[in-house]
Amino acid sequence: MKCRRCGARAEVQLRAHNTAFCRPCYLFFFRRQVERAIDAQRMLVAGERILVAVSGGKDSLALWDMLADLGHDTTGLYLGLGIGEYSDRSREKVEQFAAARGLPLRVVKLEDEQLAVPGVAAATRRAPCAACGTMKRHYFDAAAFAGGFDVLATGHNLDDEAARLLGNVLRWQKDHLARQRPVLPPSHPKFVRKVKPLYLTSEYETAVYAFMRGIDYIVDECPNAAGATQLLYKGALDRLEVASPGTKLAFVKEFLRSAQPAFAAVEQREPMECAGCGMPAYGVLCSFCSLVREVENRRARTSSALPA
Ligand code: AMP
Ligand code: FES
Ligand code: ZN
Repeated sequence: MKCRRCGARAEVQLRAHNTAFCRPCYLFFFRRQVERAIDAQRMLVAGERILVAVSGGKDSLALWDMLADLGHDTTGLYLGLGIGEYSDRSREKVEQFAAARGLPLRVVKLEDEQLAVPGVAAATRRAPCAACGTMKRHYFDAAAFAGGFDVLATGHNLDDEAARLLGNVLRWQKDHLARQRPVLPPSHPKFVRKVKPLYLTSEYETAVYAFMRGIDYIVDECPNAAGATQLLYKGALDRLEVASPGTKLAFVKEFLRSAQPAFAAVEQREPMECAGCGMPAYGVLCSFCSLVREVENRRARTSSALPA
């Protein structure tokens, strides 16, 4: 197979795009795809300070690599989730990445706040991923606001977005569909804009980019991911994609073009401020503070039940 751009021997075949590339042309293609997504959705303005949430996985490190390479002012944010060895190794990957490139990195460890994911999940009897998602959102927002950043970037890719869309559609979660966008403008002065520059590039495309750029990332999935419904949806979409390449791209793009605006038009709830942490909230407490309250109550009950 030959590279579509230069005719050299192709190294990557992209069935969804019905094309193939050699290594230099693939890197060019990938970068152009991301730049186009950023421009088309007006994700970033020159000179803005970007906080990039990096997990140590391929997507977020590829994103940081690209944004820094494009000349943006970036700072990494790593959240230590306290998930044993998985968290230790992912932190190492992020720290090595930042040090090798001389990029600034902020590390927040949930275990330092007594909020490691396994403990919180057990205390609140929630699925670890649900507790983790609530805490991640809170710490991303809080760090972006406290650090005076203009925008928060995450490494969500096409597979993530398609799986999330499928989950939202299967249950017709109108409020989630209203907010499923690659750019989320701030709905409160304490929120910053949130962007997902990789929302049109597949997990496979990002992995190839990371490999070609020599990015050392954590290959293992979070140990809590097994059995998560997100993986079930990803598996179903993978099967559809094999039978009909381009399905995921069309699903996400067409949703954003023709259906998302209708959902967004209905959802107009303005957040108030959380009585606990002061961040925006849709009730008296934000979902993070409600979760922490639950953990505290549970711990208080358990310790008072212990024999003196
Ligand atoms: P996930 O929720 O694991 O699918 O990750 C989605 C995105 O959230 C990643 O691409 C990162 O940008 C960000 N993210 C996930 N985990 C972390 C973490 N521990 N620290 C910082 N950012 C993270
Ligand atoms: Fe949050 Fe796995 S990354 S539970
Ligand atoms: Zn709060």
